[in-house]
Amino acid sequence: KSEDEIVNITFIDKDGKRREIKGKVGDNVLYLAHRYEIPMEGACEASLACTTCHVYVKHEYLDALPPAEEKEDDLLDLAPFLKDNSRLGCQIILTKELEGIEVTLPKATRNFYVDGHTPKPH
Ligand code: FES
Repeated sequence: KSEDEIVNITFIDKDGKRREIKGKVGDNVLYLAHRYEIPMEGACEASLACTTCHVYVKHEYLDALPPAEEKEDDLLDLAPFLKDNSRLGCQIILTKELEGIEVTLPKATRNFYVDGHTPKPH
């Protein structure tokens, strides 16, 4: 793969530990995280049916992402510890514009999709 396809991404886990990873254009952030054993869950395998891939995107990169679809927004509303820069990791596909992006994992996620708990509004 050619150098200009590389997109550097930093994952910051809930304890603040940073992992710098070389992804490439077209990589799905959830699957990239899994490939490097970053503790991002992704219970529904990127099918927009859970919130366990919740991440915070460094603010300066938010505008470089396509806006969240309605479905993503609806799910995010159910995510614990929602912030203004919350997105679902499985909906982030790396592009050149995202070079240097940092994503932070929340303190906890709630997996209502698999464990069957009804999410409560907060
Ligand atoms: Fe379920 Fe992203 S993995 S919505």
